[in-house]
Amino acid sequence: MTKQNQKGARVSLAGALARHTTLRQLQVFEAVARLGSFTRAAEELYLAQPTVSMQLKKLADTVGMPLFVQTGIRIQLTDTGRDVYTACQEVFRAMADLEVKVADLKGVRRGRLRLAVITSAKYLAPHLLGQFGRLHPGIDFSLKVTNRERLLERIANHEDDLYVLGEPPPGLEVEAHPLVPNPLVVMASRDHPLAGEHNISLKRLLEVPFVLRESGSGTRDALFRLLEEHGLQTPIVRMELSSNESIKQAIVAGLGITVLSLHSLALEGTNGPIAVLDAQGFPIQRHWYLAHSRGQKLSVVAQTFLDFVRQEGPHIAEELDRKLAEVRAAPVSRTEKKSNITGL
Ligand code: PGA
Repeated sequence: MTKQNQKGARVSLAGALARHTTLRQLQVFEAVARLGSFTRAAEELYLAQPTVSMQLKKLADTVGMPLFVQTGIRIQLTDTGRDVYTACQEVFRAMADLEVKVADLKGVRRGRLRLAVITSAKYLAPHLLGQFGRLHPGIDFSLKVTNRERLLERIANHEDDLYVLGEPPPGLEVEAHPLVPNPLVVMASRDHPLAGEHNISLKRLLEVPFVLRESGSGTRDALFRLLEEHGLQTPIVRMELSSNESIKQAIVAGLGITVLSLHSLALEGTNGPIAVLDAQGFPIQRHWYLAHSRGQKLSVVAQTFLDFVRQEGPHIAEELDRKLAEVRAAPVSRTEKKSNITGL
């Protein structure tokens, strides 16, 4: 690609970029393109907005073509902008790999792993990171926890290195490696009238109020799908919350029953104030996957983590299963209501 310089001579774009572009400009451009917002990029990079605009203008001047178009408050990459974005991602990945390789040569593996996980996988992810971190003390983590809908957007925007989510929807361009099972169960306070009943029908469950995750949540969708498959109406939703931990508090406070991942009870063990109900159609068997965008070249750190998880996944799953089986089998005694939830 060539462009005219001020004297009318044709200069190569690569030459112009090498002479005039700073890594700071590329970093600012990459953040704006990834986040689709000048404001969010400025926040992420701790810069003032005029600085962001100025850096972008300098880069666009060097390239000689607009990189973004603005329609109302939305900004979109132009075709040239998309090419520059791809090149930027390659530059930063190569630099991150270089950092890891040099650290490897010095005998220390260093770098940062950007992992985004779906809300209910926040119980599993720290265990994976903890075990991995013990093997690679030089690697830092950034962990983003968000719901299924938002996580799918992050994957589409290549915002992170790796993702933990439930079944990826068909058509999503990801490579997904099965991690561990994720059983969704019905939970109630230990002194709820349904606690201690056996083989509770779905119809009976629908007679009592629910405290449910927000729309966009994979857990909520899975419950609604189960009810639809049985030709049943949606539950009475007394309260909607986007935090599993707040839902557990609401359950203990007697606001209703819920459906959540059994993993969310792992810390309480068998002594917590919440009972797993013996309900027909449950557990809904979901699975966790570790995924990355198809065709995305993984950083050395991300590849090392993926290899670790694929090798250790079965052992981690076994250990988790054992712990969760005890939680599910815990006897329900309606008089032994406890008042505190651990792990908040
Ligand atoms: P959620 O997703 O945390 O958004 O409810 C869980 C799942 O997809 O199983």
